[in-house]
Amino acid sequence: MTGWLGGAYPWVKAAHVIFVIFWMAGLFMLPRYLAYQSATAPGSAEDRLWVERVGRLKRIILTPGLIVTWVLGLMLATSYGLTHAYWLHAKILMVLLLSGYHGWGAATARKMAAGARPYSEKTLRLLNEVPSVFVIVIVILVVVKPF
Ligand code: HEM
Repeated sequence: MTGWLGGAYPWVKAAHVIFVIFWMAGLFMLPRYLAYQSATAPGSAEDRLWVERVGRLKRIILTPGLIVTWVLGLMLATSYGLTHAYWLHAKILMVLLLSGYHGWGAATARKMAAGARPYSEKTLRLLNEVPSVFVIVIVILVVVKPF
């Protein structure tokens, strides 16, 4: 079942899960940071501090987490074999949607760094819960492989 990765398959899978954890940590932190920033006056010293913190979060955790999770995930998927692995098709669809959520977060951070306040603090706190729904579905798909 290991395919072209051979004996490296479990090592790549371990690295995949490690970067998944980093990416999810970043996805849980970003809307919370934006919620705090949304309570500050645009251009104020506190606002600039949050712009810096969000920038570091994106550069050091979120973007590397997304990219390495995808690269290792696709290595595993091509090694595991995509044919008839319907759980994997469903998983990739869910991860594409989660990557869309990541894109929304990054775009919102850019708008807020430019002084906009597109969402209320309450809305941002609500949107903070979205990744947890995805994580539950994705982990059940990959561990249980229900179909
Ligand atoms: C980016 C696209 C992704 C692809 C193509 C992908 C693909 C895969 C594949 C093929 C495996 C190996 C399955 C096995 O050997 O049983 C795997 C393992 C795993 N993936 Fe992903 N994955 C992706 C993203 C994610 C994300 C976002 C999460 C969590 C939110 C995740 C969680 C896991 C877990 C927990 C395992 C280990 C499952 C086990 O050992 O039973 N993956 N992934």
